[in-house]
Amino acid sequence: MGRRALITGITGQDGSYLSELLVSKGYEVHGLVRRVALEDPGHRLKRIEHIRNSIHLHAGSLESFPSVHHVLRTVQPDECYHLAAQSFVSYSFDDEFSTLQTNINGTHHVLAAIKDIVPKCRVYFAGSSEMFGKVAEVPQTENTRFHPRSAYGISKVAGFDLTRNYREAYGMHASNGILFNHESPRRGFEFVTRKITSGVARIRAGQASDLKLGNLDAHRDWGHAANYVEAMWLMLQQDQPDDYVVATAETHSVREFAKLAFQYAGLDYEKYIVADSQLYRPAEVDLLVGNPAKAHERLGWSSSVSLQSLVWEMVESDCRAMGIELNKDNFTASIPVRRAAHGSAVDSS
Ligand code: NAP
Ligand code: GDD
Repeated sequence: MGRRALITGITGQDGSYLSELLVSKGYEVHGLVRRVALEDPGHRLKRIEHIRNSIHLHAGSLESFPSVHHVLRTVQPDECYHLAAQSFVSYSFDDEFSTLQTNINGTHHVLAAIKDIVPKCRVYFAGSSEMFGKVAEVPQTENTRFHPRSAYGISKVAGFDLTRNYREAYGMHASNGILFNHESPRRGFEFVTRKITSGVARIRAGQASDLKLGNLDAHRDWGHAANYVEAMWLMLQQDQPDDYVVATAETHSVREFAKLAFQYAGLDYEKYIVADSQLYRPAEVDLLVGNPAKAHERLGWSSSVSLQSLVWEMVESDCRAMGIELNKDNFTASIPVRRAAHGSAVDSS
């Protein structure tokens, strides 16, 4: 019989790609969703509407232990991917309380219910490079000290520690992914990459004349979400649970991302980007770049999508949605590559 997986956060970017992956591998896929999602499927289940008939959805509230307990008792999964979270760092400054409540208690509820009902179920926790925050070293590895810079980052450190402690205290197969930023055409519009690519499309369509952005000098290690969910699955296929950095080992500034996105649409970014100091964060994470050597060696995972391909896919998709067809051959675009080697500073070439 095929294996059964439960995904929390199945309606999100990662949940949608992970569902596709697990369905393609023959899993019986279940998802925990908020009740409102079932009330308004056309809007809230958009990312999974194409596989809606291949998955099973259960209404539940992450904030309520009895509710999470009930869904786990109903599904009895072999694998659980806990992805649900208030995932927007910026919003966590506006509402620290609900971010901490959803992200910390939600994770605790999932782990405690699994321990109670299906202790042999393998668990994945969606940890984040935001946990490194004010980075202690470059590049960041599984051994780099955490120094979170937001309620979101703090909530993810707590989730990481909870997951590790359930592994150590109760012998559960519980693993932490430390995933660096990963994007796709399904990324939420509030995150900077999608804000840029959708902004480019609106400008090309004549529906906007500029794009307001905050800190253009922040650096991120951006990969592709479809590629990163494979690492989640691989972690749960190992004999032993563990913690893994998942990253490309390359870092780029927001400015470089924007320049490339505008270039692919035949536009000069300098003419359209407007600096907006309101969009700066009270505490910023300036530089993220991961060393995925452990994931490569133990899981056989590696990043398979270049930044150029990622940006192109996102710009092309957002422009197509506006009725604009782009031809990649018409535009040449290049960016500097800054690659991280273990224990070294970031090289520039
Ligand atoms: P996303 O697109 O924002 O999806 C978040 C998911 O969590 C959605 O399904 C959302 O459901 C659900 N959710 C939020 N609050 C909830 C609540 N109170 N109760 C139940 N469900 C709730 O995020 P993502 O990019 O797919 O990321 C998935 C996970 O990986 C998150 O935990 C995120 O923090 C973590 N992560 C992401 C990245 C990245 O770069 N994408 C990197 C590292 C870690 P609704 O549709 O109902 O809102
Ligand atoms: N969102 C946003 N909007 N970010 C901006 C803007 C803007 O207008 N202008 C500049 N930025 C900068 C932010 O200050 C930040 O340094 C960077 O762009 C990336 O911001 P986001 O795309 O919002 O992502 P994030 O890095 O804060 O968080 C994402 O990645 C984490 C992993 O490192 C989220 O997906 C988190 O859930 C995830 O854990």
